[in-house]
Amino acid sequence: MDKRVRVLLVGAAFSADLHIDGYSRCKELAEIVAICDKDTSKIRPLAERYGFTGYKVYDNYDKAIEEADCDVVDICLPNFLHHDVAVKAFKRGRHVICEKPLATTVEDAKEMVEAAARAGKKLYYAEDWIFAPAINKPLEIINEGAIGKPLYIRARECHSGSHSPFAQTIKYCGGGCMVHLGIHPVGFMLALKENKWTELVAMTSGGGEKNLVHKKMEGEDWSACIIKFADGTQALLEANYVTRGGMEDMIDIYGTEGCMHINLTFSSPITCYSIPGISYTVEKAEVTTGWSSPAVDEKFNLGYVNEIRHFMECCLKNEDARIGLRGIDGLEALKVVNLIYKSAREGVKVVNSELRGYARL
Ligand SMILES: NC(=O)c1ccc[n+]([C@@H]2O[C@H](COP(=O)([O-])OP(=O)(O)OC[C@H]3O[C@@H](n4cnc5c(N)ncnc54)[C@H](O)[C@@H]3O)[C@@H](O)[C@H]2O)c1
Repeated sequence: MDKRVRVLLVGAAFSADLHIDGYSRCKELAEIVAICDKDTSKIRPLAERYGFTGYKVYDNYDKAIEEADCDVVDICLPNFLHHDVAVKAFKRGRHVICEKPLATTVEDAKEMVEAAARAGKKLYYAEDWIFAPAINKPLEIINEGAIGKPLYIRARECHSGSHSPFAQTIKYCGGGCMVHLGIHPVGFMLALKENKWTELVAMTSGGGEKNLVHKKMEGEDWSACIIKFADGTQALLEANYVTRGGMEDMIDIYGTEGCMHINLTFSSPITCYSIPGISYTVEKAEVTTGWSSPAVDEKFNLGYVNEIRHFMECCLKNEDARIGLRGIDGLEALKVVNLIYKSAREGVKVVNSELRGYARL
């Protein structure tokens, strides 16, 4: 493709803001030709914030997919709409970028992967952790051998609850905090271990009345999984909606010769004490008064900016994304999340039957 990638952005709210910041930082590679949201009042303020003009506005994604002269459709809609938009975009011969989770069910996610293959187009899975500088630097340190062979990894994403009304209902989102938040540590570990997991056991709070805090939410508000990989590495992956004080994205890595602790969300070089409070400190912080560590370029540090650049470079070359960011990686992450739910529901250990050759159980 000897030109810039033409993007149709579908959705103009929270995650669209994360993506459009990325597009604004690679304007030499990408242009936004159309933005669609059923609430069109959100579109102009979003585009203006990042200096985009000259895009078409749509309130209906069927029409947008049909009419917009684009190369890629970027899906920033609630989870239950990912499948429909992606399948329609592939039918129209477009590449697709899809926010996490890939879909609400494994069946829908499989259909998305198959639809991409049928169309000869790429499905890009937007797992931002893979581009977080504070994750990539530790991986370089591990590759140097500085902490020996990693044996055990603990990773979690936690906060006090999703802002999205769709996150309350399993039909609309596919589960609770594990599918919404835990899919980041799950996706990161799977990418690190090339999807070669062997067995897992899990517990969740169970959803509804059984939840620790969010009794009206159908999905669980606390969940944890112990998972083993083919090379013998073990991991404890956690997600919860009971964490106050801002989003926690944390990883601990224990190796034969050392260990490392990564704090993605509270690693700001700034420490501030404010009596009236600051307009913004970190994602999901309830209050900003008193002592805080306001994030510096949060979207870059959480990986969104380089994720979008990577997808644009892949689109231009008609190439698959890196491991962890392909449609099949989104599918595998969703499969694992659903097996976490199965393990928790049935009280069983789940063995990866597709990987018997690798298993060292
Ligand atoms: N990678 C991350 O860290 C991250 C963070 C937040 C959200 N997400 C994902 O991004 C996706 C969107 O989440 P969000 O937080 O932006 O949701 P949101 O609820 O803030 O916004 C969704 C937008 O979609 C629009 N919409 C809903 N139905 C529509 C339809 N039929 N046609 C057109 N527009 C429609 C709504 O008007 C709204 O503007 C979800 O899949 C979520 O899991 C990812």
